[in-house]
Amino acid sequence: MKLKNINPTSTRAWSTLQQHFNETKDVKMQELFKKNPNRKSDYTLKFDDFTLDFSKNRINNQTFNSLIDLAKETGLKEAIEAQFSGEKINVTENRAVLHTALRDKSNTPILVDEKNIKPEVAATLSKIKDFSDNVINGKFKGYTNKPFTDVVNIGIGGSDLGPKMAVEALKFYQNHLKCHFISNVDGDHVYETIKNLNPETTLFVIVSKTFTTQETLTNALTVQKWFLEKATVADIAHNFVAVSTNLEAVKDFGISPNNIFPMWDWVGGRYSLWSAVGLTIALSVGYKNFDDFLTGANQMDVHFKNTSFDKNLPVVLALISIWYNNFFNSETEVLLPYTQYLELLPMYLQQTIMESNGKSVDRNGDAINYQTGTIVWGSTGTNAQHAFMQLVHQGTKLIPADFIGFLEPLHGDSNHHAKLMANLYGQTEALYKGKTKGEVNIELKLADKTHDIEKLLPFKTFAGNKPSNTLLIQKLTPNALGRLIALYEHKTFVQGVIWNIYSFDQFGVELGKELAKNYLKC
Ligand code: F6P
Repeated sequence: MKLKNINPTSTRAWSTLQQHFNETKDVKMQELFKKNPNRKSDYTLKFDDFTLDFSKNRINNQTFNSLIDLAKETGLKEAIEAQFSGEKINVTENRAVLHTALRDKSNTPILVDEKNIKPEVAATLSKIKDFSDNVINGKFKGYTNKPFTDVVNIGIGGSDLGPKMAVEALKFYQNHLKCHFISNVDGDHVYETIKNLNPETTLFVIVSKTFTTQETLTNALTVQKWFLEKATVADIAHNFVAVSTNLEAVKDFGISPNNIFPMWDWVGGRYSLWSAVGLTIALSVGYKNFDDFLTGANQMDVHFKNTSFDKNLPVVLALISIWYNNFFNSETEVLLPYTQYLELLPMYLQQTIMESNGKSVDRNGDAINYQTGTIVWGSTGTNAQHAFMQLVHQGTKLIPADFIGFLEPLHGDSNHHAKLMANLYGQTEALYKGKTKGEVNIELKLADKTHDIEKLLPFKTFAGNKPSNTLLIQKLTPNALGRLIALYEHKTFVQGVIWNIYSFDQFGVELGKELAKNYLKC
């Protein structure tokens, strides 16, 4: 079963949406709330302890229904089935797209080239479990027989961003191992990271799906040279492991075959933290937590696969985003997690979203005449409020926002948490309500600044009508993180399907790499 090949702008739903946009583009959300007192609950979806409130969007029932029609007309249902069942929907690389199989513990076989991949996935998970258990409990030791104290993940892109983001996000659950990440080919990044490390007690995890990536190989060789200043070639077997599909290249590097964790070409780099690429996550928080993380992602997979589009969290988020991207011509979206633990989430999702959907030819290979991939950026609240939120509130651009909040803080301080969450709610309210001239008038009068009213009125007025989604989650657990990441993975998938592009290649990254090689030859 292939993905359908439909120009979304040629669908009936798109024409309806275009006309509907022309008629409703100036409608204020405040009016929509006034008209429907139940708007908040009508536009709220629940999935386990996730609550998605999408009421503060410039949509009404007709918008919503037409967006759902767009998903139906562009073959989303069939596309989801094709992805989960292992069809080679990554057509340009002739590969299946099965990061979802890495977290599917059911007994249902998944076939790639007529071979069930489930046993290999299970065997690799069991290898990750054994290895991480034994490093954490001190049974596996470094070359001088001392237990490990530090772990250094060497990789870039999908072989860095996912593990780094998840290790940071799950810091609360971390054990005694200190995790470090080297990605940039900038030597200063390498030397700064290793300068205080002891080679005897440091485990190096070299992660590269292809094992040909210049940055990772250069960094790994530099680290190996530093290691060999103290140790011997035979000692590499104790302190170095690798994660790759390219077993030969890893062996050539000097890593013992026992220390190689396999990967598969049916897992894209930016979707690979669920595989052995997540080894550093398992080392950092223990296998049980890593397993909960996978389970969470699988729960979101099941929700995505089996829930009707109108109640399907990834589908609804994707459709709302298309509404702004393709009709309001919004170019960017801002992501605002209200927890410091998710500081790296926007950067991680930039790769997921922008490497996947930054495409300008459709599935026919023809140039596209509509907008595709959104630009995503962001930072944690409340820090963001003191940095860039001014532009979101009062700038000229329409920037839809996703607010992500947790109902329970991990360290249990209710004073801080009340303030944190009050800020989240305050921001979403300010964005959609804005502030009218009348309100500014009253405010200045009350502040005894009547004489300033004329001067300040235009500057203190907020147009409002700025859209946002609010996702509330009970608590930042490994399971919740798994569900959250899978939510955005599927949102990205849905958008790629509707935009009629291939979301799982990344040829755009290659040209710069090739040209850099020419400069090195000079
Ligand atoms: O940036 C391009 C890319 O191919 C990413 O998709 C990938 O995550 C990264 O490079 C690293 O690749 P590898 O794991 O093969 O070293």
